[in-house]
Amino acid sequence: MTIERTISIIKPDAVAKNVIGKIYDRFESAGLKVVAAKMKQLSRAEAEGFYAVHKERPFFNDLVNFMISGPVMIQVLQGENAVLKNRELMGATNPKEAAAGTIRADFAASIDANAVHGSDSLENAAIEIAYFFAASEVYGA
Ligand code: PPS
Repeated sequence: MTIERTISIIKPDAVAKNVIGKIYDRFESAGLKVVAAKMKQLSRAEAEGFYAVHKERPFFNDLVNFMISGPVMIQVLQGENAVLKNRELMGATNPKEAAAGTIRADFAASIDANAVHGSDSLENAAIEIAYFFAASEVYGA
């Protein structure tokens, strides 16, 4: 088993619903450790940069507008197979298709407001961690 790090973002809908603690409990119960965290109101430029890979997709503007509609909670999760484990905890992008007991099934309302983001590969996790955190802000051994 490899110890990995991944990015998790609790999106504005879940922050507004006051379920940060409930979502953190999912991470910790699954053996993932929060090794960096910050609450942040993203600027439009920050959100556009973060989602640049999706800029040609039809939902890009909706996604950016949603992500700047309120503060987000951004954390680095560390643990065995953290990238895949976090994606499993999140459930499918569309909450209507998310398996029972996943974060999106329990806390998300729609494909637009789907509660959480998680890095989809180890390579992207490294890029996304560096996008939001200086190395000195990450506290895992
Ligand atoms: S994935 O897993 O990245 O391949 O998922 P994907 O379906 O490609 O979606 C990429 C991100 O775009 C969001 N999304 C949408 N936002 C607004 N409206 C619509 N219709 C929509 N469809 C997808 C989706 O939540 C993904 O955001 P993140 O933050 O990466 O989870």
